[in-house]
Order: sequence, then structure tokens, then C-alpha cells
Amino acid sequence: MRIDIITVLPEMLDGFVNTSILARAQKKGLVEIHVHNLRDYTTDKHKRVDDYPFGGFAGMVMQCQPIDACISALKAERDYDEIIFTTPDGEQFDQPMANQLSMDKNIIILCGHYKGIDYRIREHLITKEVSIGDFVLTGGELAAAVMADAIVRLVPGVLSDEQSALSDSFQDNLLAAPVYTRPSDYKGWKVPEVLLSGHDAKIKEWELTQSLERTKRLRPDLLEK
Ligand code: ADE
Repeated sequence: MRIDIITVLPEMLDGFVNTSILARAQKKGLVEIHVHNLRDYTTDKHKRVDDYPFGGFAGMVMQCQPIDACISALKAERDYDEIIFTTPDGEQFDQPMANQLSMDKNIIILCGHYKGIDYRIREHLITKEVSIGDFVLTGGELAAAVMADAIVRLVPGVLSDEQSALSDSFQDNLLAAPVYTRPSDYKGWKVPEVLLSGHDAKIKEWELTQSLERTKRLRPDLLEK
């Protein structure tokens, strides 16, 4: 899988892309992540990528030209499954969306900034608009990082078996069961007996009961999905 991230702040993503799960996935040859500096694509001699909005509104707006130039250059090299724009008014990012995007071959993530981007880009080039939650970030870089992390760890081979993504919270619209490690008794705080029993069927049943109980208590909305 290949992810191209377009940003005015590449330095914000470089560190992240070259450490964390993304670095490991790239080293294994399973994923390629490329960060593109939008300023490299502007025809403006001062390297500006934003301008005042028509209509006299407040804030600055990212211009069509550099975004179009960058996306066109990428599209000339390969086909893309999705061209995503990170924005607080987009569709809510969640585990099913991460699952779906992890099956794509090539995606672009365009990070928003300033007051927004010229709406014509959204109408003509963007295929999916995504928000990571109901709050406003200063830019889309953190949103792109969150998405890339959640997507890449689902690409087959990225996680080892024991870290398997299958038992994650949200994977079946259920929160994960609690986990424990040695010692089984720490200052009198005991690990649930059943986990020490070696009885696989009973342990599975306990895990499901715990998942359901925690979901009902903490995220009842998930059970309605
Ligand atoms: N850009 C600013 N806020 C955002 C959010 N909540 N999700 C995605 N992109 C954003």
C-alpha cells in the first residue's frame, strides 16, 4: 500500500513517518509513505499557497493551483483509490473506515490548513472528506497521522501475530476485554481466576462477557450499531 500525504508542514509528519508503526511497516516493504510539501508545487514566486477569501470573510484560504498541480503530478504516476481531504466537517473516521482504507492500494491524504481550501478542489478532485472527531485542529497533519497509523497497522503483515488487530477494541463494535500480566498477585490485587485456569473455552467466554459488559457501561452507542 502507498500513502501520499500533501501538507504545508512536512516537518510535522517526517518524524512520525520515520518512527512508529509507519517506519516498521515501510522497513518490511509493506507500505510506502511519501510526504509532499505543497509549497514545492506553487507557481507563486514567494512560495505562497494561500490567499484572501472572496466575499471579505476572515482567514486565509488554500489556493487551487498548488493543490491541483501536486495531485495531478501524483495521478500522472499511478491510479488512486481515494483522494482524502482532512476537515472537521468530513465523515467521521472510525474503525470500519480504517479497515476499508487498509485494503486500498494507493491513497492521497491532503491536509487542510488556514480557514480551509478553495471549495472547487473539494468539488472536483477530492473523493472523500474525513474528520477525526468533533473538535477543530489547527491543521490536518495530526488527522493525517492518526489516519495513517490506524490504517497501516491493519495492512496484513504489519503487526506480528501476538499483536493481532483482530482483538482490538471496536473491531466488532465491542471494547476489548481487560488484559493482565505477571505477577498474578500484586500487592493483593489479583488477576481474575479464570485466566489462570488454562481452560480455553471458559477464558473465551470470560473475554466476551467482559467485552460486552465494558461496552454496555462505557460505550452503549456501539451496541446499537
Ligand atoms: N482539521 C482540523 N480539524 C480537523 C478534524 N477534527 N479532523 C480532520 N481534520 C481536521
